[in-house]
Amino acid sequence: MPGDYFPPMPARVLITMDDLSTAVPLNAALEAAGFSTAMFSSLDDAARTVRRESPDLVVLTGAVHEPHALQLAALARDAEISTLALLEPTDSERAERVGRLGVTETMMKPVAPDDALATARRLIERRGLQQRTGIFGESAAIQEVLVKIEQMAPVSSTVLIQGDSGTGKELVAKAIHDLSPRRGKPFIAVNCAALPETLLESELFGHEKGAFTGAAERRLGRFELADTGTIFLDEIGEIPPSTQVKLLRVLESRTFFRVGGTQPIKVDVRVLAATNRSLREAVTLGDFRDDLYYRLNVLTIYLPPLRERREDIPLLVRRFVRELAREHDRSFRGITPEAMQRLVSAPWPGNVRQLRNLIESMVVLAPGAEIRASDIPADVMEGPGSLLPVRLPAQARDFAGGGHELEFILRSLLDLKLQVEELRRRLDQGPQRVQVIELGDHASVDVLSDGDGDGQEAEPPVLYRSGMTMAEVEKAAISAALQEHRGNRRRAAEVLGIGERTLYRKIKAYHLE
Ligand SMILES: Nc1ncnc2c1ncn2[C@@H]1O[C@H](COP(=O)(O)OP(=O)(O)OP(=O)(O)O)[C@@H](O)[C@H]1O
Ligand SMILES: [Mg+2]
Repeated sequence: MPGDYFPPMPARVLITMDDLSTAVPLNAALEAAGFSTAMFSSLDDAARTVRRESPDLVVLTGAVHEPHALQLAALARDAEISTLALLEPTDSERAERVGRLGVTETMMKPVAPDDALATARRLIERRGLQQRTGIFGESAAIQEVLVKIEQMAPVSSTVLIQGDSGTGKELVAKAIHDLSPRRGKPFIAVNCAALPETLLESELFGHEKGAFTGAAERRLGRFELADTGTIFLDEIGEIPPSTQVKLLRVLESRTFFRVGGTQPIKVDVRVLAATNRSLREAVTLGDFRDDLYYRLNVLTIYLPPLRERREDIPLLVRRFVRELAREHDRSFRGITPEAMQRLVSAPWPGNVRQLRNLIESMVVLAPGAEIRASDIPADVMEGPGSLLPVRLPAQARDFAGGGHELEFILRSLLDLKLQVEELRRRLDQGPQRVQVIELGDHASVDVLSDGDGDGQEAEPPVLYRSGMTMAEVEKAAISAALQEHRGNRRRAAEVLGIGERTLYRKIKAYHLE
C-alpha cells in the first residue's frame, strides 16, 4: 500500500556559525541537496542538540583549536558522530595536531560549497555503512573494505576474504550477504578446518541413505541448504585435495553430487570464502590447487592486522566499552587518555577479537566508572605468545582475606570465560582434543592434536612433566606443534602464537631441525 511507505529521514547536519562567510553558503548547499541542517552560534546549543538529536555530521567552521570547538568535537566523537573541520590556511602547520584532536576529516578554506557537500555526503554515507555492517574503523584500510563490500554486495561473484585470526573476516562475509539482494535468504557458514575429510564432504554436499555406514537417512548438505542464499566457506585453506576438486566443480557449474548419489544437483548459491593463511603460498607449497585458487580469487578483500591500523583502536575501544557496559549493565564513563594510549600501542596478536575480549573483562572488573591504565593486565602489552598457553588461575591462596575476594572471583570467572571462548575457537579450527594436565597448585590447559584425525585414540604428547625446565617445556611444545602441522613452520608458529622468525631461531637453538 502506498500509504505504508515512509521515506527515509533526511540526514541531519549541524554547522557552527563561527565563520559566517563559510557557514551560510554551505548551509544553503546542504539544504538544496536535501539535508536537514541547523546552524549554531553557541557551544551550549550545539552540545544540547548533539546529545538530543544525534545528528549525522557536525561541521566546525571556526578555529578548531578553540576550547569550545574542541569540546564539541570530543562530544561528537564520543557519540560516534563524524566531524568535518574547515580550517584556516594558517591552521595548516597544525594539521598534524588537528588529526590528533579527533575530528574525522579536515578541509582547507576557502572551501567551495559543492566540495564540502561532497565530503559531507561521503562522511554521512560512511557512518551509515559502518552502522549497518557493524564494521568500525577510521583507517584507510577499513574505509577501503567498506567501499569494496558495497561494490561487491550486489553481484553474485565469489569473494575471497583474507586476514589474520580475529581481524573481522566473518563480519565482512555477513555484511556482504546482508547488503546483497540475497539478504533474508540463508547465510550458511561452514568451518572447513573443523571436520575430517569424509565428514566435510557429506557436510558440504549431503549424502544419500546408505552412502556409508551410519548414513541411515538422506541428509542435505550445506550447499543445498544455502540455495538462493550465500555459503561462507571459512578456513578454506584447510580443505583436503579431494574436496578441492569437488569444490572446483561446484564453482564452475554450480552442480554437485550428494555423497553416494548419482543425480547431479544444481543450486543457486553465492560463495564467500575466508582464510587466515596465504592461499598463494599454499599453492606454491602444493597444498592448494591453483585452478581452485584462481576460481576463488575473483574478488578479494584483505583485512590487515590491527597493529597495522592502530588509528582504528580508539573508535573500536569506545564502541566496545559502550556496547559491553550496556550488555553487563554497568554505567561507565569511558576510558582515561593514558589507558587509551596504552591500548593503541599494544601488540594485539589476537587482533580485534582480543581487543573486544579485553574490553569485556575490563568493563566487568574495573573498580571505578572508567577504565584506567592500571586496569590493563600487564600481559596485554607483552605481545605474541601471551595468549598461549591457556592457563587456569590457581593462585587462590594469594587472596585469602582482604577485600579482594570478589574481584578475584570475578576475574577468575572472566578469565575462564575467555579461555573457554579461545578453546572453542581452536576446537572449531581443527580436529583437536583438549587435555588438562594437573600440576599441583598450577593447572594448565593445552590443546593437543590427535594428528591424523582418523578417530584413533593416539597417545597425546605430554607437554609438561614434573621437574621440566621452561626451556624443555618450550622445546617440547615446538616439537609437538611441528609434528601436528607436519613440519609446516608457518602453521606451527601461528598456533604457538610466535613469529615465524622466532620459531626458526628456536628450532636452531633447540636443534630441532
Ligand atoms: N572492524 C570491526 N568493527 C567492529 N567489530 C569488529 C571489527 N572487526 C572484528 N570485530 C569483532 O571482532 C571479533 C572477531 O571478528 P571475526 O569473528 O569476524 O574475525 P575472523 O577474522 O573471522 O577471525 P577467525 O579467523 O579467528 O575466525 C568479533 O566479535 C567481531 O564482531
Ligand atoms: Mg572467522
